[in-house]
Amino acid sequence: MTWLITGGAGYIGAHVVRAMTEAGERAVVYDDLSTGIAGRVPAGVPLVVGSTLDEKLLGRVLAEHSVTGVVHLAAKKQVGESVDRPLHYYRENVEGLRVLLEAVTAAGVASFVFSSSAAVYGMPDVDLVTEQTPCVPMSPYGETKLAGEWLVRAAGRAAGLSTACLRYFNVAGAAAPDLADTGVFNLIPMVFERLTDGVPPRVFGDDYPTPDGTCIRDYIHVVDLAEAHVAVARALRATPGRDLTLNIGRGEGVSVREMIDRIHAVTGHQDPPVVTPRRPGDPARVVASAERVTTELGWKARHDVQDMITSAWQGWVHRHPEAARG
Ligand code: WQD
Repeated sequence: MTWLITGGAGYIGAHVVRAMTEAGERAVVYDDLSTGIAGRVPAGVPLVVGSTLDEKLLGRVLAEHSVTGVVHLAAKKQVGESVDRPLHYYRENVEGLRVLLEAVTAAGVASFVFSSSAAVYGMPDVDLVTEQTPCVPMSPYGETKLAGEWLVRAAGRAAGLSTACLRYFNVAGAAAPDLADTGVFNLIPMVFERLTDGVPPRVFGDDYPTPDGTCIRDYIHVVDLAEAHVAVARALRATPGRDLTLNIGRGEGVSVREMIDRIHAVTGHQDPPVVTPRRPGDPARVVASAERVTTELGWKARHDVQDMITSAWQGWVHRHPEAARG
């Protein structure tokens, strides 16, 4: 069985490729290299540079490599940018997926794993978000992920494709320094950047209805997340006609203040944070119920926040050696 991994040169995708190949699966990477990095694709894994909007090329690649399963991670993923460029996000994330599904169903692929997001839930008003919690996305990005899930399920049912929609919570960490996230769009890298520049990290609002007033999230190590893909790939292969929707989180909430304290402890940088106004659209608390994924796949996260910060910091220092001197 060969898996086509779209977005396999990206931060999360490269970890998925590594986990799948280490588990003995054959992989082919399909990536337009708009944000992906060719060097992240391991030797021996073919890399096809192309867009998910290119149905012809997709059809050729699926046939040439006798692809039987697809893990689709290629997408735009910045919430703020999606507010400014919604048409671009719908084109890349929804139209790109629709075209890919055309090629996939025409080629008779058996399994399809879709990278969705906790962003589909928007501002959930519950302690633990289950897969039944209503989806009310708050950004075009979240909308494209929810619409993507609809497309995947509908196309899957019509074509007899086994499908899984994985709703990632807050992904962090790295398997190795050269696989670390190079984007500075999330809490951990944003704090690293400020500490490296010698300026205080920022807390976006401390007047939320949470114990320390700062937002709570469910952070998941990218290595655990990648292993969840291996488990889901095997589950889809074992049982044709499956239709899974799963939260991929740890079920543990950590506040922004707690994260910054832990980052201080790992990095040795001590600049106390400054509190700035709330960032528009941020929910107070988003924590997964990770029960269903454990029941369905027997998968459970193994790494804690300490591992995430430590490995992310090693990646940061690898690219910013001056940061270590703090
Ligand atoms: C975490 C918390 C910030 C930076 C987003 C997307 C989600 C997924 C992951 C994509 C928030 C606070 C941040 C800083 C801060 N994306 N913060 N100071 O917003 O939970 O999730 O990324 O695939 O869909 O919505 O993640 O890392 O941006 O923020 O106080 O310098 O940290 O306000 O409460 P978020 P994040």
